[in-house]
Amino acid sequence: MKAAVSSMQESSQQDHEFLNDVLRGLAGDQKTLPCKYLYDELGSQLFEKICDVDDYYLTRTEAKIFNQYLPDIAEEVGPGALLVEPGAGNCEKVEGLLHLLKSPSGYYPIDISPEILYLAGQRIKKGLPHISIWPEVGDFTQAEVWDNLSNIESKKRVVFFPGSTIGNFEPDRAEQLLETFAANLRAGDGLLIGTDLVKDSVVLERAYHDSEHITEQFNKNLLQRINSELGGNFDLSSFSHRAFYQPLRQRVEMHLVSLRDQRVAIAGEQIVFLEGETIHTENSHKYKVSSFNTLLMKGGFKPVRHWTDSSESYAIHYAQAI
Ligand code: AVI
Repeated sequence: MKAAVSSMQESSQQDHEFLNDVLRGLAGDQKTLPCKYLYDELGSQLFEKICDVDDYYLTRTEAKIFNQYLPDIAEEVGPGALLVEPGAGNCEKVEGLLHLLKSPSGYYPIDISPEILYLAGQRIKKGLPHISIWPEVGDFTQAEVWDNLSNIESKKRVVFFPGSTIGNFEPDRAEQLLETFAANLRAGDGLLIGTDLVKDSVVLERAYHDSEHITEQFNKNLLQRINSELGGNFDLSSFSHRAFYQPLRQRVEMHLVSLRDQRVAIAGEQIVFLEGETIHTENSHKYKVSSFNTLLMKGGFKPVRHWTDSSESYAIHYAQAI
């Protein structure tokens, strides 16, 4: 009973935070919504679908680089490593590497979903029964989820952060995130991180405005989520999906465009939209290897090497904590 009450309190606290973030974001001159809210259950399923879409080359290209260079990457990570994966999700990307590592100290996946972590842990244990797993439930930007690392003995800690997730952070927040990683590593420990690279804007825009319209559904699901969780009355057909490359900021921006003048009610608040006005829902920063190296150094890392595909579309970097 106590557990049920505390989980109800937790979920009403989360609703409250969601509502505050939504109302604050929609009150500004440029309306915005935090991209973390794109990932409810349906949003996460849609993101998985995006990863399989032809136009979205990121996941496929990263997997290709891993497949091609895995022995080399495992060698760079070295023996006795404890792999730490912030935002591990279903932990699928780490498995190949775990198989190739020499006497790894274990795996420390961090994710906000206990169910997904539990299932992933079970699956990994089946294929790699000798690996110790320390799952940690929570938000990887918060200090407390890293605390248990100090109880685990390892020759080397290596943060594994694939998927170009760093691209969804503003450059100053990305630097802070790297600092969080570095603060939980010792000198000589490692970071293995994936980034999407700057490229032709047509290719970039197609990736975020795919011909199968999955990214459109993913973006619009945010409005559906506000309707169902916060009692909003967004008419989804009155908004369209827009994604474009902003060369000055080297990022793809995702927006929802109001197709007419309209008012939307959320929890008793009226939000006015003019025709053509947008809600900015996500940024996806693209890097050059050199600019990412600069970011790594600002965040407390020494770039060591990187691996890329033949058209230099995507990179996996290995860096050492200073
Ligand atoms: C999770 N993240 C790296 C994806 C990206 O490419 O920025 C999220 C995404 N948004 C639209 N499509 C994919």
